[in-house]
Amino acid sequence: MGVGQTRSVDPDNPKDVFDTRTPAQSPIEFNATKLNMVNKMRKQPAFSIPSSLIFSSVRVSHHHGWVILFLTILVLMISGRADAQADRKKVKNSCVECHKQSTGNPEVDRHYFQWEDSWHAAKHVTCDKCHGGKPDETLPAVAHADILESEGKKTASYYLKMDTKCGQCHSEEYVDFSMSSHYRFLEEGEGPSCITCHNPKTGHTLSVQEIVASCVNCHNEKLKGYEHIPRVARLLLDTLSYADFFVQWAQEFIFLKGKATKEKAWARSKLVDAEIELFKSKKQWHLFNLNDTEAHIKKAIEFALEAKKLVD
Ligand code: HEC
Ligand code: HEC
Ligand code: HEC
Ligand code: HEC
Ligand code: HEC
Repeated sequence: MGVGQTRSVDPDNPKDVFDTRTPAQSPIEFNATKLNMVNKMRKQPAFSIPSSLIFSSVRVSHHHGWVILFLTILVLMISGRADAQADRKKVKNSCVECHKQSTGNPEVDRHYFQWEDSWHAAKHVTCDKCHGGKPDETLPAVAHADILESEGKKTASYYLKMDTKCGQCHSEEYVDFSMSSHYRFLEEGEGPSCITCHNPKTGHTLSVQEIVASCVNCHNEKLKGYEHIPRVARLLLDTLSYADFFVQWAQEFIFLKGKATKEKAWARSKLVDAEIELFKSKKQWHLFNLNDTEAHIKKAIEFALEAKKLVD
């Protein structure tokens, strides 16, 4: 799937159904494009005439010398272009090109299929961005160089390292998360990381059950005074996805309702307020401030309700 195309929608994911943005509207777009351009520029072969040739042209005084030189340059230019074309082919990400086809290992292929239809794929967040390796090499042994050799904690995709990897692009969430009280648990080697709650391939937020199960690892009867946290977390996450859904629904409702009126314009601005509250609630969640998360979710729902009432 290329840039500018809409990704296919997962009908089981309520967020997906309403997420009608095209990849081109994303705020990270600019950086990703710039990064791609820089990479392409680096790999573009510089067309240069060997210096020996230039010097020899000074020495050749005979008329024919210039013709020969001209022809040589022409040949060089043509072969230079062929080189550039071959190189452009090489620039295509070898990880993706090869993993597109079955590797014969369904466990490995599963990761490709998950990635294929995601925002990450649409935005060229290719395998090597997280796994390392050499995406210009076509031989698996060479391409996999530092992936397969190193195992466990040394692997680039080891989960404790993932937060900084994800953070290279999602700096805002990373900054929030690293300021949370739980970041130090991660540094000590056991806390939640980005991929405790997000599928790294698709970026999808995991199910409420999956996320809450990870809290229970620590928040159980052994952690006195904090045993209630998983229950609160479950309630909050359910309410958050309801709020996401409700705000989107109110948007559709108001969009379809009657002609442009003053009330409709007010309703629209209320919805913007609701979106801002949703955004703030997610920020507070990444900071592990559950109380503030809840407060912003409630406000989002209130704003959406007010918006709907204005046009009812
Ligand atoms: C020419 C084909 C080819 C290329 C190029 C290639 N791979 Fe693979 N890759 C494979 C095959 C085949 C396997 C399955 C190996 C197995 O099952 O033993 C695999 C396995 C993997 C695995 C799983 C390793 C594990 O420990 O189980 C990862 C991760 C991976 N590749 C990432 C990458 C990345 C990242 C790149 C680019 C830098 C890349 N691959 C380039 C063919 C390729
Ligand atoms: C945004 C980061 C990210 C991208 C992009 C990504 N992966 Fe992964 N991948 C991970 C993480 C983290 C793990 C380990 C945790 C897990 O299993 O979910 C992993 C695990 C895997 C595994 C299981 C074996 C192992 O090494 O743990 C395979 C195979 C794999 N990825 C292949 C790929 C292929 C092929 C691509 C490109 C089509 C790709 N990945 C793109 C982050 C990523
Ligand atoms: C090389 C840059 C890059 C890396 C590395 C990366 N992402 Fe992303 N991610 C993106 C882009 C670009 C999007 C597209 C959506 C956007 O622009 O907000 C995206 C989308 C997402 C989304 C969905 C946002 C939405 O609006 O639906 C989540 C969640 C996400 N990534 C989490 C992760 C996690 C977790 C990791 C690490 C395992 C990771 N990302 C690694 C660039 C990256
Ligand atoms: C404890 C669970 C948890 C952890 C840890 C976590 N997230 Fe999230 N993240 C969520 C939830 C819940 C949401 C909001 C639901 C949603 O929008 O899908 C969210 C939303 C996001 C979004 C925005 C998606 C959107 O809809 O706009 C991005 C991007 C993201 N997280 C990236 C990260 C990154 C990067 C890390 C690690 C630095 C991280 N998250 C750590 C649970 C978590
Ligand atoms: C590695 C263990 C560990 C995991 C996993 C864990 N926590 Fe905690 N959490 C703790 C400890 C220990 C405390 C006690 C307070 C402290 O030391 O900061 C705590 C306290 C809290 C608090 C109280 C406020 C605060 O920051 O002090 C909240 C809220 C919280 N955790 C939420 C969660 C949620 C939600 C999850 C699951 C996504 C989770 N925790 C997963 C260890 C963990």
